[in-house]
Amino acid sequence: MELREWALQILSSGRLEDKLFFPTELTDFSPGPALLWKEPSRALGMTFQPHSRQDRLPRPSELFQADKRAICLHRFAGHELLAVEIMAYALLAFPEAPPHFRKGVAHTLKEEQDHVKRYQKRMQELGLQFGDLPLYRGFWSYVPHLTTPLRYISAMSLTFEMANLDFAPIYSQLFAEHGDLLSSELMQGIFEDEIGHVSFGCRWLKNWKDPQHSAWETWKAHLPPRTPPSQARAPLFFSQHRRLAGLDEEWIKNLELSAPG
Ligand SMILES: [Fe+2]
Ligand SMILES: [Fe+2]
Repeated sequence: MELREWALQILSSGRLEDKLFFPTELTDFSPGPALLWKEPSRALGMTFQPHSRQDRLPRPSELFQADKRAICLHRFAGHELLAVEIMAYALLAFPEAPPHFRKGVAHTLKEEQDHVKRYQKRMQELGLQFGDLPLYRGFWSYVPHLTTPLRYISAMSLTFEMANLDFAPIYSQLFAEHGDLLSSELMQGIFEDEIGHVSFGCRWLKNWKDPQHSAWETWKAHLPPRTPPSQARAPLFFSQHRRLAGLDEEWIKNLELSAPG
């Protein structure tokens, strides 16, 4: 299957099975003309809902209740599904990006599909189906600003996925503290994959940046409007996890000093 065809199927089909489908063989002979997809198709019940007050994530102190942990997993699965769709968007939007870059995006997309499946399985074990709770536009609202591959990695790999270098281990710890080792291990697995996803963005940013500018300056200059650097972190900040992903010390220090949003 061609990358373009695969990406089109992910965005145009409302069926979750199609969004989570991975072909046995992927080729990229005809990336085609650039296509800017407006909005992913979603099955009824999985379309983007407006945020409301009751949609706050459960507090850490409530996580001894299985249904509250399931709510967290549902929210995280929603983020993963958005990542799948945004990566498909990038494959359609950047046909002229280096083939090696496109291959890397496809590989990451496959892991995001796997993340959705893992969350889906675990939330089912805790009594919740994916789609039982509202899903939001979230990261998709940044898509109009992802006009170049550098802007794409700055927002996706180096901001949204980077924040998971804090959030995933935080939740892994919280779930373990409440005796839910399966959910804890799930978060740990996601965290390990996320290091690779951030590292992918980091390598390409270094490759594309102007040698006059540091990685930190380049990243900041390519963030979407109204996106402070603090979106790439949680209130609890793990500098060592950034080192594992290949960030340099200047970037880590500046991010650590950025007040969490
Ligand atoms: Fe993920
Ligand atoms: Fe990721």
